Amino acid sequence: MKTIETPILVLTGAGISRESGVPTFRGADGLWKNYRAEELATPEAFARRPELVWEWYDWRRQAIAKCNPNAAHEVIVAIEDATGPGEFLLATQNVDGLHELAGSRNVRRLHGSIWHLRCVRCDHEELNRTVPLAPLPPPCPQCGSFLRPGVVWFGEGLDRVVLDAAFTAARTARTVLVIGTSSLVYPAAALPEIALESGAHVVEVNPEATPLSPYVAERLEGPAAELLPAWWREHAPTD
Ligand code: APR
Repeated sequence: MKTIETPILVLTGAGISRESGVPTFRGADGLWKNYRAEELATPEAFARRPELVWEWYDWRRQAIAKCNPNAAHEVIVAIEDATGPGEFLLATQNVDGLHELAGSRNVRRLHGSIWHLRCVRCDHEELNRTVPLAPLPPPCPQCGSFLRPGVVWFGEGLDRVVLDAAFTAARTARTVLVIGTSSLVYPAAALPEIALESGAHVVEVNPEATPLSPYVAERLEGPAAELLPAWWREHAPTD
């Protein structure tokens, strides 16, 4: 039994939701009507063709609504349950909401949420899980302008408060789990780098090698839903 040191930071990316069936962003199943995600997930695309961008998000919302959390999401809840107050933070790049559905509580959504909508003009925001949405783009109930998905698009900045919480956790964490992320997209990819500089024990769970792989203490090479439960059985506190 090797008990892990706290505080713990968990960083997740699209790979953790793969076994739940969430369509990925990159790669072949990331294509939609021959558009790549990078062509649609931008403020410029939304300004030019809001209906098209919304059709794509509506398609993603419908697909994600059918997905359930998997064993890897559940292990992360178990880790949070086993830690004391202030000793656990989950930073996710995923917008699918599966961590919250699994029961994770101290979550920071670095790239926002596909279930949150906000007005492009006024301060209206809402949680909206209706699928499909009609009409598209959805009108703002407050000012009549458009609502947009509450996600961070390419070229947009991340929420300062969310980012600060994640960076503070990266500086103080003793153990960091990096699960299902290509470690290519910054600033999220900087979190494990900072933790490594502070001497944290970093564990990467990913079937493929990433730019982070050469620097981590442990690599679990395979699907998170398969490997993470076994890893946790070995490291969970027994009392
Ligand atoms: N278990 C663990 N990891 C997996 C699994 C699995 N079953 N299947 C795939 N992976 C790994 C892949 O090898 C890849 O390294 O998950 C990673 C997914 O990488 P990306 O698709 O680049 O996802 P992510 O790192 O979350 O992307 C970051 O970029 O696309 C934008 O804003 C979007 O939040 C996203 C960000």
